[in-house]
Amino acid sequence: MDESVMIWDTGALRNIHGETVTFKGWHVIWSLAVDKIDLTNASIVEEWDTRNNRAYIGFWFSKTGNGADWQWGGRLLQTSADLRPHEWSGSLVMREDTANCVDMFYTSEADAPVNQSVPSVSTGHIFADETGVWFEGFSTSTEMFSADGIHEANSDEDEYFDFRDPHVFMNPEDGRVYAVYEGNVPGMRGDFTIGSKEQGLIPPGFEVGAGAEYGAAAIGIAVLDDGAYEAGDFSKSRWTQLEPLVTALGVNDQTERPHVVFRDGRVYLFTISHASTYSGGLVGPDGVYGFVSDDGLFGPYRPLNSSGLVLGNNQTQPLATYSHFVDPEGYVQSFINYIPDPTAADPSAYRIGATLAPTVRIALEGDRTFLSDVWNYGEIFAQGAWPVDPAPDKRPIVSES
Ligand code: FRU
Repeated sequence: MDESVMIWDTGALRNIHGETVTFKGWHVIWSLAVDKIDLTNASIVEEWDTRNNRAYIGFWFSKTGNGADWQWGGRLLQTSADLRPHEWSGSLVMREDTANCVDMFYTSEADAPVNQSVPSVSTGHIFADETGVWFEGFSTSTEMFSADGIHEANSDEDEYFDFRDPHVFMNPEDGRVYAVYEGNVPGMRGDFTIGSKEQGLIPPGFEVGAGAEYGAAAIGIAVLDDGAYEAGDFSKSRWTQLEPLVTALGVNDQTERPHVVFRDGRVYLFTISHASTYSGGLVGPDGVYGFVSDDGLFGPYRPLNSSGLVLGNNQTQPLATYSHFVDPEGYVQSFINYIPDPTAADPSAYRIGATLAPTVRIALEGDRTFLSDVWNYGEIFAQGAWPVDPAPDKRPIVSES
């Protein structure tokens, strides 16, 4: 990958049905990125820890979709598209037309004077030749919807509210276009009464602990008016916010980057979360969690693997990977975050990854998931192509199945 940038949340170019696609034989991914700064007065840990305040969306392209081959393409959005200073996560979706039109759904974010976080979209066109991939357009943005304090908490209710990471897709059951996103349960921060109904079946001795009322994560959903996707109209009047699909009231305060996989007549809903955002004495690792519905997009959902945990970091390296994204074939891509530094005298010293982790594959079998293979760093798999290129053949570098 490229030594001049640090990257974290990443996603592949895909179509509205969720399939990863190549464009004229090229694999394309977007990443949240910061340019490396002069470290004379700052440590690399400080640089990494402050990255959210300098984040922009960049892109990579590669003929093979394989770790070592990714070429850095620079910024995706022009700075004129920025409604607020920071560009955070979302999804890059290729339209099903012949005009090479691509939509970047993303989070427009500012932390001053108050927290602002608005799912937004910028549209451009993709081009490629034998030497690489480039984009044009992406010069303006449109706000999709804002936290309304009714379906999800807004900044008046919760100064730390989360409202971001739009994942836009077509629901095969009704042919309608939806966005799922990270939110919080509406209501004043900390003003929730938490009991066993919220926290579920908890063994004796592990009852609701102090601070449970600060866990209020929710996976929000909005539906787009019929015809608006085809018209490329994602403005606020065209979206309707609905009740959240899943909430974690009393359990955890963040369910980030939610996304869906439609498989075997079921709907799998994945989200990433942190050990540090669990509440009320509950514990779980940084990793990807999931839920399954047999009855369509609106559930009800059951936690996968009973606990909801799909892939968690090993507790000897608890912050090793994050921001996992599960594609329709079960390939899971994530980035390397903090790795314990084996050479440092201080046992709490960390090295920074700031690059992509090995891709792994999971099998989805009803309510259970199983790790099946480990692939290369930052390896991406296409299920489709634009216009008609066949997806390249691939073999695992390590197979446990
Ligand atoms: C996940 C995340 C996203 C957010 C981005 C900001 O790693 O927290 O929810 O959009 O990172 O860097």
